[in-house]
Amino acid sequence: MNQVPKLIQAKTIRDTRGAIGVVETGSEIDFVPKRIYYLFDLHARSERGAHAHRRLFQAMFALSGSCEIRLTDGDNEWAFRLDSPDIGLSVPPGYWRSLGSFAGGTVLLVLASDAYDEHDYIRNWEDFVAWRAQQYRSIL
Ligand code: TYD
Repeated sequence: MNQVPKLIQAKTIRDTRGAIGVVETGSEIDFVPKRIYYLFDLHARSERGAHAHRRLFQAMFALSGSCEIRLTDGDNEWAFRLDSPDIGLSVPPGYWRSLGSFAGGTVLLVLASDAYDEHDYIRNWEDFVAWRAQQYRSIL
């Protein structure tokens, strides 16, 4: 719970042929990805997310295109625009996220620390605020 969202610089290996972006556990991310998924065919005006995760760690990269990711812990807010394949966003557990403003052709890659589990989602804002308050009380 004490981890905060932050931008990640992928290791980039560039030569005359092009570039390779590398994300490794222990370097760019501190979890072992168990699931990889990606968002594509995104409509410019669609809004995604509107949930938080209880335990899941994620790292997101706009491999092409761009999008906006807004995060909140209920008190503080962060806003990021991912628009380069070598810059990602690390999202620890406990952050409500909203994704939108997708450029045409955007592909958003997500590395996740665990398999899909609907029980890990908090999809109701009031439930999220109550869960956050309870987490906060438990560390006092
Ligand atoms: P959701 O995570 O709510 O999408 P987003 O945050 O991008 O708006 O997922 C949408 C649907 O897809 C929901 O019914 C759950 C399902 N889903 C899976 O079955 N497996 C997965 O790995 C993911 C990410 C979603």
